[in-house]
Amino acid sequence: MKEQLELIKQNALNALDATETPAALEELRVKLLGKKGELTAVLKMMGKLSPEERPVMGQLANAVRAEIENKLEQRKAAINASVLEAKLAAESIDVTIPGDTVELGHQHPMNQVLQQVKDIFVGLGYTVVDGPEVELASYNFTRLNIEEGHPSRDRSDTFYFNEEDSVLLRTQTSSMQIRFMENNEPPLCMLAPGRVFRKDEADATHSPMFHQIEGLVVDEHITMGDLKGALITIMRAIYGEDAQMRFRPHHFPFTEPSCEMDMQCHKCHGTGEVDGQVCSTCHGEGWIELLGAGMVHPDVLRNCGIDPEKYSGFAFGMGLERMALGRMRINDMRLLFDNDVRFLNQF
Ligand code: DAH
Repeated sequence: MKEQLELIKQNALNALDATETPAALEELRVKLLGKKGELTAVLKMMGKLSPEERPVMGQLANAVRAEIENKLEQRKAAINASVLEAKLAAESIDVTIPGDTVELGHQHPMNQVLQQVKDIFVGLGYTVVDGPEVELASYNFTRLNIEEGHPSRDRSDTFYFNEEDSVLLRTQTSSMQIRFMENNEPPLCMLAPGRVFRKDEADATHSPMFHQIEGLVVDEHITMGDLKGALITIMRAIYGEDAQMRFRPHHFPFTEPSCEMDMQCHKCHGTGEVDGQVCSTCHGEGWIELLGAGMVHPDVLRNCGIDPEKYSGFAFGMGLERMALGRMRINDMRLLFDNDVRFLNQF
């Protein structure tokens, strides 16, 4: 039996040395050490030995098993290492192959226009500020002289959050006039772009969410002349030196006097007609409405703790979408919000 074990050991070690692949090694492991393996068969015959011989042979068999297991681990490590080495040699990386180009996007057309407008105003010394879209009715309406019962406060026009109608989605950036005046001392020169919300159905020229840019200047001796000068300068910077503007009287509760400013239609040059047809850009008006403006109402100044005997100011509010449509010759506002990249890539 001793010779038999010695033989098994020698054969096993030789076989292990000759094995080259992980699969062959596993096959060999089962053959050598498995339940049907040679070593197991020898161990099964132990029962036939004399009581003196049994422990000696048992010890020897265990030593043989341990040696085979040891060798098995060694071969496993060596084979794995050579497999890895072969793989590394076979798979080389060509670092000179050009990579995938990542296409850089660009700003949304609305942002492009906003940026342009902001640049112009910053150049004129305006401070650009941001404010809450969820607003108190006192800022959006009351302190702007828009009293209870005014039609613009109606639930059919404004999104309210509570029963008392005191918290709402701001309907105009004019709320920022109040916020800025209550926290800053004149002289003031503010620009507040932002989103506003109204209960409007979406169509080519309406959207329940749109953008406004609010402007406010308060100082001593500010007049309507300053308002006109500032707005004409700004519009020429945006629409070109030859842009023609006009002012019309209007009414806003928070300015007195109030006006609207129009730009002569760039398509029909004020005639209202193109090739004998009604101009589609201005609907035959010859003019395009750009913004509302006026001299800040003395009550509004007072509501913010500013003395109207000492200070005066002007304010204006314009729609950014309308500006983008005009500048980029886009005929439907919804295109600005659909975010179809085929459309956006044109700008
Ligand atoms: N907030 C007004 C609107 O939403 C626009 C406006 C008019 C703003 C006159 C002003 C202003 O600052 O003076 O229609």
